[in-house]
Order: sequence, then C-alpha cells, then structure tokens
Amino acid sequence: MALRNIVTVGDSVLTKVCRPVVNFDRRLHILLDDMAQTLEAANGVGLAAPQVGILRRAVLVDTGDHGVLELINPEIIEQSGEQTGLEGCLSVPGQYGIVTRPNVVKVRAQDRFGQWFEAEGEGLTARCMCHELAHLDGQLYTEVADRMLTQEELDELMDEDEDE
Ligand code: NI
Repeated sequence: MALRNIVTVGDSVLTKVCRPVVNFDRRLHILLDDMAQTLEAANGVGLAAPQVGILRRAVLVDTGDHGVLELINPEIIEQSGEQTGLEGCLSVPGQYGIVTRPNVVKVRAQDRFGQWFEAEGEGLTARCMCHELAHLDGQLYTEVADRMLTQEELDELMDEDEDE
C-alpha cells in the first residue's frame, strides 16, 4: 500500500464527472487500499477517487462504526429527513461550512469484486455518503453549503480541538 497525494481545490480534476468503474481487478484493489491508507493518514471520514486524481466512481466512507465502507459506482436510492451541521473536506484544507443534508440515505453500490449491495447511513454516515458521492459528479460541499465559517469561527473551532 502507498499513500497518495490528496488533490486540493483549484485543481480541475475535482470538477470533473467521474466514469464508472468497469474492471474489478487488482488495479482497483490497489487504488482502494491506497485510498484507505491515505484516508487514515489524513484522519478523515471519507475520500473519493477524484481526490487522489483518479476519475472513477469509487469512494470510501469511514465514520467509525463498521470500518471502511467501499462504495463502487454508488447511487443514492432513498433519502429522508434533514440535518444541518458542520462539514469539511480533505481537498479544502482549513475550511468548514454549514451544510444541510438528508438525515438518512440508502445507497446502492458495488463492492471491490463487482457484487451489488445496499447500505444505509444515518447522521454523520449519511452526510459523508452524500458528500463523497457529490465528488464523483465534480461537486464540492462549498458549492452547496448554507454558508462557510468565518475566520473567527474557525479560530474558535481550533481552540476547542486543542482543549480536547
Ligand atoms: Ni470531500
């Protein structure tokens, strides 16, 4: 496994629509393993393939409960409720925004071997699924945020982090 570089905002790769994964081969598995290592090293909760420069429809969600969830060619098939809360992105370092998302989402996706399955996420997991899937269509949360945090709010947030 190897760490991959995380692309940051301003790079056009983040604005492109990704193509479906068609080969569930060793190359895909290496990509997913590298993404998992990169996500862990960055202390994130989700990562999409375009964030490491690969324009394919593959994302990872790791919100703590069940280890790393791999979603290949994912689609949201159901969503309900609403939540409004803090959101950040490894590709938009040092910033946070307030984003409204569904509270529960059901996703249909393939696993790394091409097998279709469904996964349901609630709260943070639902938020993360929506955020990561949007990356596959070239959309960043900053485009859908209710608002971004001000520098003063960011400073307060960093102070809170230090206190923990
Ligand atoms: Ni992101």
